Amino acid sequence: MEHLQVEVQGERWQVATAGKEGPILLLVHGFPLDHQMWKHQLAGLSSSARLIAPDLSGFGKSESNGTQFSMGSLADQLDSLLNQMQVEQPVIYCGLSMGGYIGWQFWHQHRDRLSAMIMCDTRAAADSPEVARGREMMAARVREEGNQFVAPSMVPKLFAPSTIDAATEVVRETEQVINSTSAEAIAKGQLAMAARSDATGWLAKIDLPTLFVVGTEDAITPAAEMMLVANTVPNSQLCELPHAGHMSPLEQPEAFNSRVIAFLDDR
Ligand code: MLT
Repeated sequence: MEHLQVEVQGERWQVATAGKEGPILLLVHGFPLDHQMWKHQLAGLSSSARLIAPDLSGFGKSESNGTQFSMGSLADQLDSLLNQMQVEQPVIYCGLSMGGYIGWQFWHQHRDRLSAMIMCDTRAAADSPEVARGREMMAARVREEGNQFVAPSMVPKLFAPSTIDAATEVVRETEQVINSTSAEAIAKGQLAMAARSDATGWLAKIDLPTLFVVGTEDAITPAAEMMLVANTVPNSQLCELPHAGHMSPLEQPEAFNSRVIAFLDDR
């Protein structure tokens, strides 16, 4: 794996890359995380694909120019990143949760850039007014109090109970990533997700091969909701991963990677 520094619309982003040959997989992390959530894919898929895993604006080791972003502006930044990296061939967009919300926008704004999509533990519907209000309150709180309360409140929801009980390294590592995410990135992420568009009206028009992956114990974006989304996208398949919660690529990496390899081979 290599870490590059890439200038993206005036911000210096850190981008992890791996693999030299094959289709290009753009791996877009969830909230409030960074590219490390793809560590098993960066290692295990590198002989099957070329992997590009950025830290989004203000997350991980990427800079932020201080302005509020949106799912749409992050999609535009990902397009600029691919331009900066001189990627010309269509890519496979692979996003988890917030990375999936950005993925719908990426499809809407940059359809020609894509050859397929892998949407993990995500949803297409916008927030209800109550959920959006909760996000605005969290944004205000984190700006006032700092980020210490975020990991303890989020981690139990991110993983399947069995992953937490096993107290695996990935749980500790994810806590560390959340603790090192700035209060400002967390606030902006929440406000951007609260304001995101509803993508449900786009689903029937998505004409790309699409793989949906969800942990059967996902408490944030439940499998039943992903099944409805997958049933609406014409050329799609759904993979439900047992013993995984919201962080399916981290919790069940071997099963996740084999399913992705089969999808790459099938297209
Ligand atoms: C994520 O994993 O990106 C977040 O849980 C998404 C969300 O808060 O809706």
